[in-house]
Amino acid sequence: MSMVDIINKKRLGRELSDHDLEEAFLGYDRGEIPDYQMSSLLMAICMNGMTEEEIFTLTDIFINSGDQLDLSHVHGVTVDKHSTGGVGDKTTLIVASIAASLGVKVPKMSGRGLGHTGGTIDKLESIPGFRIDLSEEEFIHQLNTVGFAIISQTAHLAPLDKKIYALRDVTGTVESIPLIATSIMSKKIAAGAEKIVLDVKVGNGALLKTQEEAIEISRLMKKIGEKYHREVETMITYMDIPLGTCIGNALEILEVMKILSNEENNYLVALSKALAAKMVQLGLGISIEEASSRVEESITSGSAYQKFLEMVDAQGGDLSKLRVSEHTIDITSNKKGHIIGMDAYKFGKLSLELGGGRKTKEDKIDPGVGIMLKKKIGDDVEIGDVLCTLYVKEKGYKVEEDITSYYTFQ
Ligand code: URA
Repeated sequence: MSMVDIINKKRLGRELSDHDLEEAFLGYDRGEIPDYQMSSLLMAICMNGMTEEEIFTLTDIFINSGDQLDLSHVHGVTVDKHSTGGVGDKTTLIVASIAASLGVKVPKMSGRGLGHTGGTIDKLESIPGFRIDLSEEEFIHQLNTVGFAIISQTAHLAPLDKKIYALRDVTGTVESIPLIATSIMSKKIAAGAEKIVLDVKVGNGALLKTQEEAIEISRLMKKIGEKYHREVETMITYMDIPLGTCIGNALEILEVMKILSNEENNYLVALSKALAAKMVQLGLGISIEEASSRVEESITSGSAYQKFLEMVDAQGGDLSKLRVSEHTIDITSNKKGHIIGMDAYKFGKLSLELGGGRKTKEDKIDPGVGIMLKKKIGDDVEIGDVLCTLYVKEKGYKVEEDITSYYTFQ
């Protein structure tokens, strides 16, 4: 069947056979199918979905496009964590530091920003010198010495997902349950951890907008995990407002350091502790109560923060050279009231617009741009109060939007 026939079949809502999926996706991997045809197929999948059979086959195709890491030489239980994507979501860096400081081995393969959501790899690359491309030997060595390591998808691990991910990012084909489930689970299986904690984000700033979608993707990802003999736990968490106080790559690294130094106490901190406790429970085989109390201790004692510094150092990052943009704009409120809502999606889009994300596959991210939120839900605001500070590329940057409208006031 030709690629056009395959696209038409999916457009008409019919199930693609294993052979059809291989023709399309392996053909794209070999460079025989152009971006425009693959984009069209991805859009048809977004519109018409996939059956469970198709989802299993596509996950398999992504996994088999590269190698699978053999973590049998890692001493200890390996627990991975992944988020389905949100705005200001830097939980990975917090929870992996905590879990590793408590003896859990965290082999993490992360992605770049996707659509209006940020990605851990882009955040880490804002640290000058940070290497996201460890070899398999270096990765395993670091897991045995530091306890956690974060790499980007290499040419060896689910490389086809990486190509499709980059195409989805710029073709409006991100928000699809089958595509998100296959993308995440192929990476998780290829990266080799025995146990996986998935943070399924739902709400206006997430890729999944409804509770029903979050429940469905959780079910599917657990089922994929079962097929590959991995223990998968999911937590459905809320993403209607940006997570924490910063959006933007370097800014979020600074925020992670503040949280691990026990200088913040907000929803992001509570969420990170809950996710870390789940990883520690799975990794050490202890009760959730015991895991939660160890998580608290790892933050108050500073051991989680030390672990983060150790990981950055081991991967060549120099935090003393981390820079945010020197050009800032304070956004003042043109309304008075009590903040009862914030539009996470609009803040995510704004960060992308400032240069923190990509509009085309070739775009380069500016690591120093972003948004620091000065007012959040529950705050009272007077006209003229600073709502947030924008870190922009250059002096004279023009803000076209009415950013006060991103907030809901009572
Ligand atoms: N995270 C991923 O790795 N893939 C997706 O498609 C969405 C979030």
